[in-house]
Formats: sequence, structure tokens, C-alpha cells
Amino acid sequence: MKRLLVRVNGVIRKRLFTQRSFIRLLFDLDVLASATGQLCNWGTIHQRLIVHRYIRHETKILEIGTGAHAIVAIFVKKHFPDVSILATDILPEQIYLAKKTVDKNQVSVACTVADMFGGIAGKFDLILFYPPAIPSHELEELGCKLESYPGLGSRRGWSSDGGSDGLDVIRAFLDGVRGHLEAQGLAMVSVNPIQCDVARFKKLCQNAGLLIKRIHRLPVIMNTYVLYSQAVPGHESRPDCARPDNWYFRSPKAFLGPAENVNPFWRSYFFQEYFLRSGRGFPPSSCHIFLSCL
Ligand SMILES: C[S@@+](CC[C@H](N)C(=O)[O-])C[C@H]1O[C@@H](n2cnc3c(N)ncnc32)[C@H](O)[C@@H]1O
Repeated sequence: MKRLLVRVNGVIRKRLFTQRSFIRLLFDLDVLASATGQLCNWGTIHQRLIVHRYIRHETKILEIGTGAHAIVAIFVKKHFPDVSILATDILPEQIYLAKKTVDKNQVSVACTVADMFGGIAGKFDLILFYPPAIPSHELEELGCKLESYPGLGSRRGWSSDGGSDGLDVIRAFLDGVRGHLEAQGLAMVSVNPIQCDVARFKKLCQNAGLLIKRIHRLPVIMNTYVLYSQAVPGHESRPDCARPDNWYFRSPKAFLGPAENVNPFWRSYFFQEYFLRSGRGFPPSSCHIFLSCL
């Protein structure tokens, strides 16, 4: 069974994640041709499916490790033009390409080179990161060569190498993120549950003074954790979507206000999930006003 899943995953990554047409369909944006072939990954897709739930009016967003295509950052800016986004990456060449992709899509996303939070001033409402999290020795066994960058050192693939136990980059993120979150701010981190299970991730969060608000699961493939600072009380562990006052209307351009008077069917979890599961994604690009649970 495990072998079958690995094969299917390999085929999807090779046949779909390398296709610019697939990116256009799923993210509604144009990317440049990739030198490595790979344009997105499971974490990119998972973030695309859930990020809208955490976007409010004029949300200030930071995406760490945006990669050469800045896909999530561009997707968010295209669909929610009233947000501001800073997209960073540790590698200058990724940021050079990310800027070109941003221009190609005619959106306003600031891109800058930064090693984690180094040189980043200010606080954000939402911080996104899909970190490299494969242990170096596993990459070595797969034949991945060390790639060196002056001043940065060497890794076996800057998009995948997470250090000796695979968690070095995640730890560095969790240690720094609290200092860059607004009082009610949230961080969203996507991690493969095989590389780091929930119990282990919870422990890392505790050590860094963070709590898990919610775990979005793409079974076996990806857990996306929504985190907040332990020092700030008042975050519920899950949004209570049964409470009408937790629902609001928004359009791609603006937060339109509370939706508590709407018929419960339209507020239902089923209705939201319909868009997610029907493969249209949510919000569908043809939908101009939609409902979301806070
Ligand atoms: C798994 S890739 C994700 C790329 C992109 N966000 C996506 O979804 O396709 C991880 C990215 O993090 C970047 N990265 C690795 N270490 C970093 C660090 N210390 N600070 C900032 N970015 C880092 C890598 O260069 C790479 O682009």
C-alpha cells in the first residue's frame, strides 16, 4: 500500500506539479518556466485551499520562503487586493525570479531576500511558511548533492533540506515568529505528517511559546497548522462555525460585514466544503461575494 501511494505521489508530482497549465487552473496565475521542473508542491496547494479563511480586511501578510514562483503570495494578492504582502526567501535567485513572476501577473507583492526573520521589521496579521523538512541524511541517501551559497553554507536542496532531524528550519521559524505577530496574529505552517507528526509538532510549538488554533489535514500528505502566541489569550481552539455571529461576507476586494442573519444552510460547513471538494477551490474565481467562517 505504502509503495502504491509513493508511486501515485511520484506520478502526480511529475505529471501535474511541473505543468504551467495546472498552476493556471488551480491558482489562476502564470508562472515562469522552472529550471528544476517542479512548480508547486502539496504544501503550496494546501495553503491555497485554506488561506482565505484567515484573510480579513486589509490583512498584513508575510510569506517566508516564497520560492521562485511566489505562488501563494500572488494567488492571495490577486484574489484579495486589499491585503498587503511581503514575500521573502533565503536565496537571492529565488527572489529574482519571484519578482519577475509578480510582474508577469501584474500584482503588487513586495519581494525581498531574508534568512527567516533577519532584517524583517514590523508585525503581521498572518505569517505563512511551507518549510523544508526532510532530514539531510535521507536526501543524501536519495543522491541529493550539497548546494552551497556564499555566506549561507550548504544544504542538500534548499527547498527540502531540514537539517539533521528535518526540523532545524521549522525550529528557527517557530523561535522567531512570535516577535512578528500582531496581537491577534496567526501563523500558518505546512508540514508533512510523516516527517513530523502532530505530537512532535505540538512539542516544538510549546517550546516556542505557541499554541495550535487549528490543524487542517490533507490526510497522509500534509498538515497545515494555524498557530498563535501563547501570550495572547482569546483565540478559540477552533472557530465555532455553529455560531451565526462567527460568519461574515466578503468579496475578493473587501470584508463586507457580519452574516449572522443568513439562512443556516448557506452558512453550513457542507456548503463551504462543497467548494473545496468539488475541485473548484474556494472562493471560486467566478464568485464575487462569498461567506466564510471567522
Ligand atoms: C518547500 S519550499 C516552498 C516554496 C514555496 N513557498 C512553495 O510553496 O512552492 C521552501 C522554501 O523556503 C526557502 N527557505 C529555506 N530556508 C529558509 C530560510 N531560512 N529563510 C527563508 N526562506 C527559506 C527555500 O529557499 C524554499 O524556497
